Amino acid sequence: MSYPEQFSGFQAPSAEKWLEFEKNSWTPRPFGDYDVDIKIECCGVCASDMHTISGDWGGCPYPLAVGHEVVGKVLRVGPKVTLAKVGQRVGCGAQVYSCLDCRQCKNDNETYCKHQIDAYGAPYLDTGYTTQGGYSSHTRIHEYWVYPIPEAIASSDAAPMLCAGITVYSPLKRFGAGPGKKVGVVGIGGLGHYAVMFAKALGAEVWAISRSRAKEADAKKMGADGFLATSEKGWNEPHKMTFDLIVNTANSFDGFQLSEYLSLLDVHGRWNSVGLPGGEGVKVNNFDFISNGCFIGTSHLGSRREMLEMFDLVAEKGIKSWVEEIPISREGLQQAMEKLKKSSVRYRSCMTGYDEAFGARNPQSANLLLNLLTMSSAGIAEIPISPLSLTRRYQRVSAKTEITSVGMTPTSSSSSTTSAFSVSAAQSTGQSWVDFFDLSSQKGYTKAAGTHAALAPAEAGKNRVATLRDWTVQVGQGVEYHHGSTVLVRDFSTGKTVVELKEAVSEPVVWSNDGIAIAAGEGHGRMGVWDARTGARVGRVVSHIDNITHAAFMPDHKLVTLSRDGTVRITDPRTAKTISKLEIEGNGSTNPRLLAVSPNGRSIVSLWGNTVHIWLPKANHLTSYNLNTTRTTEGWPLCISPDTRWLVSRTENGFDIVDIASGQIAWENHQDGGVATMVTAASFSADTKVLLLGRMNGSVEVWDLDEGSAVENARVGVESLGLTGSKRN
Ligand SMILES: NC(=O)c1ccc[n+]([C@@H]2O[C@H](COP(=O)([O-])OP(=O)(O)OC[C@H]3O[C@@H](n4cnc5c(N)ncnc54)[C@H](OP(=O)(O)O)[C@@H]3O)[C@@H](O)[C@H]2O)c1
Ligand SMILES: [Zn+2]
Ligand SMILES: [Zn+2]
Repeated sequence: MSYPEQFSGFQAPSAEKWLEFEKNSWTPRPFGDYDVDIKIECCGVCASDMHTISGDWGGCPYPLAVGHEVVGKVLRVGPKVTLAKVGQRVGCGAQVYSCLDCRQCKNDNETYCKHQIDAYGAPYLDTGYTTQGGYSSHTRIHEYWVYPIPEAIASSDAAPMLCAGITVYSPLKRFGAGPGKKVGVVGIGGLGHYAVMFAKALGAEVWAISRSRAKEADAKKMGADGFLATSEKGWNEPHKMTFDLIVNTANSFDGFQLSEYLSLLDVHGRWNSVGLPGGEGVKVNNFDFISNGCFIGTSHLGSRREMLEMFDLVAEKGIKSWVEEIPISREGLQQAMEKLKKSSVRYRSCMTGYDEAFGARNPQSANLLLNLLTMSSAGIAEIPISPLSLTRRYQRVSAKTEITSVGMTPTSSSSSTTSAFSVSAAQSTGQSWVDFFDLSSQKGYTKAAGTHAALAPAEAGKNRVATLRDWTVQVGQGVEYHHGSTVLVRDFSTGKTVVELKEAVSEPVVWSNDGIAIAAGEGHGRMGVWDARTGARVGRVVSHIDNITHAAFMPDHKLVTLSRDGTVRITDPRTAKTISKLEIEGNGSTNPRLLAVSPNGRSIVSLWGNTVHIWLPKANHLTSYNLNTTRTTEGWPLCISPDTRWLVSRTENGFDIVDIASGQIAWENHQDGGVATMVTAASFSADTKVLLLGRMNGSVEVWDLDEGSAVENARVGVESLGLTGSKRN
């Protein structure tokens, strides 16, 4: 058996024979909703790997595959994953879990969480599974510990940063390495060489502190301003009490004179010792630090936030790792361990050649299998590749001209009170009309003049709609025209106006989820928020410097807005204060196209040009990708589902639905009919079960989505397929 039932890798068989790596297979832990499966491409070799399997740290559960500096490609993501997508190049490091809920986790200190789990040799929650590291074919990791790797960084350069890099980046950043600071780095090995480069990149004066002068030339190339060799007599004398921070990465305490190192620190300077040699440790004497009152401490890895920051810095400054690539095999790993023991690696070994060792591990068949496992029973016979299926319920002729927008009451689509509308312009006059109808009975209501409409949640009162209406009045004798727009809240069954929103003049027009508030454009990059019952203004968004094109309420009445100024803002409308802001960079930053906020307010998905941005403001996390890199055919995006999972696009000859987390097409429809029947508008029901489409020819269609649940049947289907040679088409 192979992936996804089995992973394989090079395991150390026992303490006695820790260097006799054996290639074994094992069953991974069960795949969870937040899990990401990664096909490993390369893995750095950390001194901690050696400490662990050699018994330096007191043994480990054998057999064990170590390695916690992993880069690879995402093969599969769980249904709740938003931080990674299939096909993406990602990394993972030395930690694979924490509770994400405790004081430490909420403070970006998740590496100190008392529930934290190591990447290898640790029991994983209550699964009975012992975590296995990156000297393996695959790994399965909770999305929080999976990090996107910037394109600019090669995989084998990025891999060692996931432990060695982050372990020194975190203390350098936390303890203020920067302009005007003198920073020392003890031990120029894997961690140390990053410490020198990062401290330099952060603007500090950096001194490499090594045992001999052997690494002096290299250290200078890495950016060291000075070099101290501790084997030289009186080496510390000229530099006593001049350092602000020393990061110690020494891997052994043999002959280690702590007092000499501490004497280098200025008053209250910091000795941050990340090295973790086995054995007894070193003795500290009060008199070693009374002369400068220095602080002695340590740090453990670094947070997700710091990880992303580190990769940004590396990409921005073009920092290049010093790596020696070694093809993975028993001999390759033995060689890497030998180099670590002798401190002869310059400066990090990275195991590569995973395809040769483990096969290509073709993601095509893996994806097919995984999709089959979740697809609907109805689809088995057709070998669909997607868990989604759509069926058209009915078509309705709503107008004679192009439908420019459609929408539904944001209630459950099975509710008997769900209404729908379409907007189109009358052929003769060009005047825009909103056509309302009942979703289940198809019964029509009165039409209303308007260019845009937003149906209210049921809570706002029966049959409420907000419409934006443009008007022109002729003032006087044929010369003077007065143009304007108003937003009216009306009852669409009777046509009566309930309230008028004073000063609301433009799109977007959106309701809060509870139907209490409505936001609408006021022009000049501003929006207002009104009480939907009284029409009284209750808030504003004023910080954008260009037009606001899209808006959506969060569950707590904060308003998310997209503007042509290239920002996504979360505003508290009552105070008009920006709570959070995301700057869109690069392509599409002046072209906001779509927006959806998940019902719990946790994720904000927006489309700018062809770039999808999945922003988790609370987690301070952003995933972005270009649709052109995941789609095989061209699509013109129309809408995002309210649960932020699906993106509907018009295509050359129909429409399709992209799974936003993976960027892959999950369902597609082809039909002929040319331009006349082209899809021009789309909108989902609040529960994402119904899709409403408008077409060029004035027709409206109601489609039902089915995500299927017949996993058992699907398994049978998979086995009979044999999983080879199947392709999506
Ligand atoms: N705290 C954390 O979160 C964390 C994370 C990862 C790793 N670690 C630990 O950090 C340590 C370094 O890992 P690494 O992968 O960078 O190892 P490494 O590549 O072997 O580098 C360690 C360096 O320490 C110096 N050194 C070795 N023995 C020494 C001694 N007796 N006295 C003084 N210096 C000595 C050597 O540099 P010179 O030749 O320049 O003297 C050596 O290159 C390991 O103990 C590892 O377990 C800790
Ligand atoms: Zn490590
Ligand atoms: Zn925690």
